[in-house]
Amino acid sequence: MDPRVKIWFVGAINEGIAMSRTVYVNGAYMPEAEGKVSIFDRGFLFADGVYEVTAVVGGKLVDYEPHMERLERSLKEIEMDWPCSREELKAMHMELIRRNKLDQGWVYMQITRGSADRDFKFPKDTKPTLIGFTQVKNLVDNADARTGVKVITVPDLRWMRRDIKSVMLLAPVLGKQAAAKAGAFEAWMVENGKVTEGTSSNAYIVKDGKVITRPVSNSILAGVTRRGLFKLAREHGVEIEERAFTPEEAYAADEAFLTSSSNFVMPIVEIDGKRIGGGQPGPVTRELREIVLAEAMR
Ligand code: PDD
Repeated sequence: MDPRVKIWFVGAINEGIAMSRTVYVNGAYMPEAEGKVSIFDRGFLFADGVYEVTAVVGGKLVDYEPHMERLERSLKEIEMDWPCSREELKAMHMELIRRNKLDQGWVYMQITRGSADRDFKFPKDTKPTLIGFTQVKNLVDNADARTGVKVITVPDLRWMRRDIKSVMLLAPVLGKQAAAKAGAFEAWMVENGKVTEGTSSNAYIVKDGKVITRPVSNSILAGVTRRGLFKLAREHGVEIEERAFTPEEAYAADEAFLTSSSNFVMPIVEIDGKRIGGGQPGPVTRELREIVLAEAMR
């Protein structure tokens, strides 16, 4: 081989490695290609684990503490202990941001009940698996937020404990895929004639200036973005009514939007093919997006 080709090749590989993410697996940082867990991991075999997705803006974690409060609750509900101290978990988040030079995007972290012979009941003396990685996304200047997005409705096929942020995400995967097939951004799940939430977001409509969203219960995930939105809306005099709504009410709404850590406030301009509020992001939604973004960028 021409030695110049070899030098180029080695250089390209090195660059490839340098450009790959650094991930975290059970106490160690490594290139993403080396980040592996056992085929016996209970997350893989049983979806026996929980997770959090925390937004990063300007290299800083957004609403980190509420995410950790929710994680604590999820762990308690599935009878798991913290895999490490709270300080260590925060250090992992910060170190992943630092090593990956993450400006905007999110940190994903997952805890499972560890790996053991396949047996449904809890294994004894098994160490939990803790993994973390970053993902880049332009959260602030998001093109979808300028135009607004489409959603479809699908039946809610999930289990009865949606308040737990479980890694058991097959129903949301199928819902999101149905949305993608229909050219939509998200699927709103419907149970007993009422919208529960999106496959990975909370759901809202606006009618006569008032924001309407389902109250938290075992039927939905208590969104961290939702919680922040409530506080900011109150401060800015935007009224929120907590009640479930039907798809028909949504079709007739003035505005609609969704919230999540990966989208903040995302305007919705079409639901099941029906245009909402003239097909443009509405004024209440735009104001809420602005105030939520301003808070995230503080
Ligand atoms: N999803 N509802 C569901 C079912 C969710 O999965 C999420 C978050 C939310 C919004 O929660 P928060 O505002 O705390 O992000 C509501 C994350 C982003 C995900 O799975 O990627």
